[in-house]
Amino acid sequence: MNAVEFKKGIYWVGAIDRTVRDFHGYQTPSGTTYNAYLLVDDKVVLFDTVAKGFSSELLARISDIIEPSKIDYIVTNHIEMDHTGALPEIVDAVNPEKIICSANGKKALLAHFHREDWPYEVVATGQTINTGTKNIRFIETKMIHWPDSMFSYIEEDALLISQDGFGLHWATEERFDDEVDQVKLMQEAAKYYANILLLYSALIQRALQNIKQMELKIDMIAPDHGVIWRSDPCKIVDAWDNWSRQVAIDKAVVVYDTMWQSTALMADAIVEGLNETGIEVRLMPLSQYHRSDVMTELLDCKAVVFGSATLNNGMMPKMADMLTYMKGLRPLGKIGAAFGSYGWGGEAPRLLDTFIADMKYESAGECLRVNYVPTPENLAACVELGRRVGAMVKA
Ligand code: FEO
Repeated sequence: MNAVEFKKGIYWVGAIDRTVRDFHGYQTPSGTTYNAYLLVDDKVVLFDTVAKGFSSELLARISDIIEPSKIDYIVTNHIEMDHTGALPEIVDAVNPEKIICSANGKKALLAHFHREDWPYEVVATGQTINTGTKNIRFIETKMIHWPDSMFSYIEEDALLISQDGFGLHWATEERFDDEVDQVKLMQEAAKYYANILLLYSALIQRALQNIKQMELKIDMIAPDHGVIWRSDPCKIVDAWDNWSRQVAIDKAVVVYDTMWQSTALMADAIVEGLNETGIEVRLMPLSQYHRSDVMTELLDCKAVVFGSATLNNGMMPKMADMLTYMKGLRPLGKIGAAFGSYGWGGEAPRLLDTFIADMKYESAGECLRVNYVPTPENLAACVELGRRVGAMVKA
C-alpha cells in the first residue's frame, strides 16, 4: 500500500502490523496500525513515527511523496514505543531541524533514548507553528495515554491528529471509518478504550470538555491506531464521552473459572435467574474468554458477578489475573456479587467479596458458596442470586 493523501498535502504514511497479538496484556487478534502523518507545505512535518521494526515501511511511504531528508520537523505527540520505537532511525535518516513535543515528552524522550543532542522544541497547549500555508496548534492531553501526550490540530484543514486518542487496534487495509464494517469498528474502539484508557476516564472527560470549550471545528480525526474518522468524527467523540462518564446499560457480566464444573453449574443457574429479569447477560468463562474481552464487556455493564472455585487456599489463577487487570483499569460504579464451589477452605468467593468491597461496588449480598457439587437447593439459590442482581440492575 502506498501513502494515502486524505487532505490536500497531508498523507497517511504509517505502518500496518498484522501480527501483533498482545499489547501490554490486551489481546489484539486483528493486529494494529501505527499511523504517522506527513504534511507537505513550505515546511515539511512528520507527525509521529512507528514501532521499532517498521521504520523501512514508514520511510518507503514517505519516499512515495518526498525525499525523507526534506522533512523539517518531527512532531512527537506521544512517546510510547509503538510510536517512537523507530524514532532514532528516522531522526538519523531525516536530520530534522526540530523535534516538537510537550515538556513531559522531552523528559520521556530523554529517558527512552538518552539523546541530549536531538533538536527538541518544547510546546504547550495553545502554541502554534506556521508551516507556510498552515498553522498547527498543540493541545496537551495528559494521560491520553501518557503524561507526555498531546494532540496536533491543523487549523486550515480542521484536522485533529490525536495519537492514541480515538484509536483502535485493527490492521485493516482500509484507512477510513466509512470503508470498514461499522459493527466491528465500534467494537474495536470500545475494546481499545476499555483496555487502554478506562483508568484515565476522569482526565479524559476533562480533556473532552476543554476541547469542547475551544470550539474547534473538526472535519476529521486522525489517530495513531486504526482508521481516520472522516465521515462522522462526532461518532467516536460521543462514544468516548459516554465511555469516560462510564455510562452503563441494563447488563450483567458473569465471569468465572471452574475446576470440576461445579462453579460452572452455579454460573449457569445465576444466568438463568438474570435472564428471568430481562436484562442483557454475558456469560464469560475465563477458559474461553481473554481478560481483555471481559474488560470490553465490563465497560458498559451495571453488574458483574464473579465466580471461582477455591484452589490452594485462594482463587483460580485466571480469576486472579482478571482481578489484577481489572483493578488497574478500574471500572467504576458496578453492582457486584460472588460465588464459587469449594472442598474445604472455601476462600475464593470470600476473596471475591473483598475485591467487590475494595472496588466500592454495591454488593448484592454475601458470597454464595457450595461444598463440592451443587444440590438442586444450591442451584435454586444461584437462580435467586441472579434474580436479585437483575432486580438491582433494573432498579
Ligand atoms: Fe499507541 Fe500509548 O501508545
